[in-house]
Amino acid sequence: MYITQETEPAPLSPRHFHWRRSWERLYWLPGLLLFAATVHAQQRPAQPWMDPALPAEQRAHLALQAMTLDEKLQLVHGTGWGVLRDGDPIAPGHNGGAGFVQGIPRLHIPDINLADSAVGIRMAARESRYATLLPSVLGLSATWDPDAAYLYGSVIGRELRDQGYNMSIGGGADLMREPRNGRNFEYAGEDPLLAGTEVGNLIRGVQSNQIIGDVKHYAFNDQETGRNTINVLLNQRAMRETDLLAFQIAVEIGHPLAAMCSYNRINGDYACENSYTLKDVLKHDFGFKGFVLSDWEGTHSTTKAALAGLDMEQPGSDFFGKPLMQAVENGSVPPSRLDDMAERVLYSLFASGAVDHPPMRRVVNPFLGLKDAQHIAEESIVLLQNEKQVLPLNKNQNGIIAIIGSHADVGVLSGGGSAQVDAPGGNAIDAREGAAVWGKPVYFPSAPLQFIREKAPHANLQFESGDNLQAAATLAAKADVAIVFVHQWMTEGQDAPSLSLPENQDGLVEAVANVSKKTIVVLETGGPVSMPWSPRVAAILETWYPGIGGGEAIANILFGDVNPSGKLPATFARQDADLPYPHVPGLTEATGNNGMNAHADGTKAEPEAATVDYNLQGVKVGYKWFQTEHKQPLFAFGHGLSYTNFTYSDLQCGSPSQAVTFKIQNTGQLAGEEVAQVYATLPASSGELFRRLVGWKRVALAPGETKMVTITPNPALLSVFDVKSDSWKLEPGVYRIEVGAASDDLKLNVAAALP
Ligand code: NOJ
Repeated sequence: MYITQETEPAPLSPRHFHWRRSWERLYWLPGLLLFAATVHAQQRPAQPWMDPALPAEQRAHLALQAMTLDEKLQLVHGTGWGVLRDGDPIAPGHNGGAGFVQGIPRLHIPDINLADSAVGIRMAARESRYATLLPSVLGLSATWDPDAAYLYGSVIGRELRDQGYNMSIGGGADLMREPRNGRNFEYAGEDPLLAGTEVGNLIRGVQSNQIIGDVKHYAFNDQETGRNTINVLLNQRAMRETDLLAFQIAVEIGHPLAAMCSYNRINGDYACENSYTLKDVLKHDFGFKGFVLSDWEGTHSTTKAALAGLDMEQPGSDFFGKPLMQAVENGSVPPSRLDDMAERVLYSLFASGAVDHPPMRRVVNPFLGLKDAQHIAEESIVLLQNEKQVLPLNKNQNGIIAIIGSHADVGVLSGGGSAQVDAPGGNAIDAREGAAVWGKPVYFPSAPLQFIREKAPHANLQFESGDNLQAAATLAAKADVAIVFVHQWMTEGQDAPSLSLPENQDGLVEAVANVSKKTIVVLETGGPVSMPWSPRVAAILETWYPGIGGGEAIANILFGDVNPSGKLPATFARQDADLPYPHVPGLTEATGNNGMNAHADGTKAEPEAATVDYNLQGVKVGYKWFQTEHKQPLFAFGHGLSYTNFTYSDLQCGSPSQAVTFKIQNTGQLAGEEVAQVYATLPASSGELFRRLVGWKRVALAPGETKMVTITPNPALLSVFDVKSDSWKLEPGVYRIEVGAASDDLKLNVAAALP
């Protein structure tokens, strides 16, 4: 239709004319806009969950509405053992990790590629990929540094992205109830606050890379012996105040988008079908919003597991494939429960960023990984003993330095099992195998000998393997300093039979200490070990499994380029007899398991349905046990020396739930970092008459410098769990607040009343 002009339009100025001409040239614009709007209108209503501006909950809900029953089921189980079992089919899109969940391309829901990544990414060698080996998680915990934990997680997350994964399996938060547990190196020690804080920050680091993070093995998977059958007994109060508290803190700090339930039973029910731990505690009380996946073949039923709170079966679909479909159809599992399971998986995909920012493959940066791993290692190494300040060593010395044992000429040890990372160039002690082999210790090519040589260029370095005690003693006798490296290789699937170092290494240290006054012992262990020779050696360093930067980190500490600052995250007992269980429950020569059925070699058998009664320790895990039992540990929880000295003063605390303040001064000659610790003992009415860690701070101090430190105790740590009201309670009364350098080296204390 034409509109007639009633009046003659005013003549256009050149500017108007120009504009008019331009608009005329845009005659196609309305058409384009219409077309774009149509396309947009077609797309938006159809896939509104792809709108990144919407909250993850809403996106998950919208996506769920668009899914068929088959698609929902597809999201709640894996596709089989895949690369873990030779000859098993590998699903298209599978990235070579431990697990795989098929996505739904028509809805833009990506596949989930899961990689074991407790201390770095597992199984990289198959694809010629590089993965950084970080120090063990227990070593990380020895840093007492939440920033180091975040860094640790970000290395894992970064490299997962680079390798094409979007989900990490790691975040071990089980408490060290059993110091001989084969997987202690994957966990963060014996204290719930320390373990939860470190693991929570590790998960934050992982998830900062748009990767779904995980916490495991939920819960009480505190020994490997009989792990598939063992029934852990523990009263509710002790559960909440120990291992579950560590998980709670990790969940509250890290907001992991996945949690793996463990193999064992808890008070009768399998962990993956335990409605108290999964539904009541994890999902309800902790407010966990992600999905629960089973450990590999840790699903034992369909209906019971689904109703108890398990959301995903791994690695296959024996229970959550067809049987779940039937259970939904026959009404034993309500459709709303299946919806919840699938929606939780969708939520984790949206909330992590895995949908909007899928991983982009590129070559892992090994230099950055090395730098980060070494930094963490340097904070993690604990100087346990330093008689007459034998350390740090003098860089100008020109006599013989004897280096003995543990392949220190070629590398550092790593932990085994599903936490095993492949060493670049192959195992430093046997490079013929391509990738790591289950059951065989792997050394990483970071040779302490090489870095010690760089530090002491005028010294004459000589190496002895330690296999021959006489040869080791002969070398030590003529050396100025003897550095003995000792190891304890630990792995998933097998606990240590005792706290003693294996392979007669106690004999090796004795042989050296007999002839050398300057014997320095460097430990590479999965966890605490006994040291009957400790009074006879000058210095002892615990380096855990120190990771790919381990060799240089050890040399930096030995020669004082780095001042040691790590503190023990677990008690080192003098002997097995001092532990709650002098013998690992159920462990005999013939028992053990081979970690994963996939790798069973048939030489060991699981004990039949054993029971371990943790009520014996109850809430008194680790240092709390030693204090109440009046047992003197070899090295206490929180212990760790420095090359400088710190003094504590001016403690103030008005009320136990408020800030504790005090001063620390560096009174020595070197800059250093002190991990200042605050412990509280609750009023007698609590019935818990032991000190518990309630806070700490890592403080850097220049020589002579003084700093005021303020630490506000974590309220959960000042409370007891009241089973009757199912809640945490602060006991009124007088609290004893102690501050110091270790649980057995408390410098200041004050009584503070809570009305
Ligand atoms: C069994 C282990 O217990 C678990 O930690 C691991 O993630 C899975 N296997 C997959 O490898």
